[in-house]
Amino acid sequence: MAEVRVAKSAGFCYGVERAVKLAEETAREKGGCAMLGSIIHNVHVVAELEALGARQVDSVEEVRPGETVIIRSHGERKEVFDRLGSVCVNATCPNVLRIQQLVAQADREGRIPLIIGEPRHPEVMGVASWSDRSVIFPGPEELEKWLLQEPSRQSLSLTAVAQTTCIRTIWETSKEILKKLCTNAKIFDTICSATHRRQLEAAELAAQADVMVVVGDRKSANTKHLAEICRKACPVVYQIEQAGELTTGFLSGCTMAGLTAGASTPAGIIKEVYTTMSEEIKNMEPQEE
Ligand code: F3S
Repeated sequence: MAEVRVAKSAGFCYGVERAVKLAEETAREKGGCAMLGSIIHNVHVVAELEALGARQVDSVEEVRPGETVIIRSHGERKEVFDRLGSVCVNATCPNVLRIQQLVAQADREGRIPLIIGEPRHPEVMGVASWSDRSVIFPGPEELEKWLLQEPSRQSLSLTAVAQTTCIRTIWETSKEILKKLCTNAKIFDTICSATHRRQLEAAELAAQADVMVVVGDRKSANTKHLAEICRKACPVVYQIEQAGELTTGFLSGCTMAGLTAGASTPAGIIKEVYTTMSEEIKNMEPQEE
């Protein structure tokens, strides 16, 4: 009999949960507030917060005088904090804060911060802004190229960190390159443990499943990475935002379907997808008999 298995680590991590809670509390206490950018990559949660009076703004210029601003779990660029001063509630995830501090410390010590991550991702852009010397690399190939292009770079004082949601193999390969080529590189493993656990579990589940469903907002980096990881181990992977995107018959011929979700996917949405998948399997069974 076919079945649906859900990854235990699917859904909200503590950093996202904390940010949403801080936004809710602030909106209630202050009778409204501004969320700078998407506080988390999930349109449903953002809509719920908007209903409480937390309005989304895309830039500091849109903030009204005296309005309290919530900084999202991905963090912000240093200049944003400098401009907002005390009117902000910092909901940056503690794991991201640590990377910002490592980059700031590297800057103070005259080291060059190297960040392995997606150059245009808000977390990476924020982290990089704590030093004017930061260099961002999407992966090990770019890092190696940079070090070989000018061999004198290999003896510079370097501090390497990873985006919290970096795929483990990308980070490990980058680390090997640093260890092999560089003489003065401090390396900090900053991949978030919640992300690592989620990725490991997704890979294990995908290896056993005929079909994997990955739920999360399309803008969410960790959801995208989860889908990539699943594709390496499972022949059919659907990356969706909500249950309505699943079409009838999508599980036909399947004996085990796996389900996982990114860090900003609320439990309610995961439950809906699970119900849809279970019903689909139930509907398949009489036909098979
Ligand atoms: Fe923080 Fe990790 Fe979540 S970095 S926001 S706990 S995925």
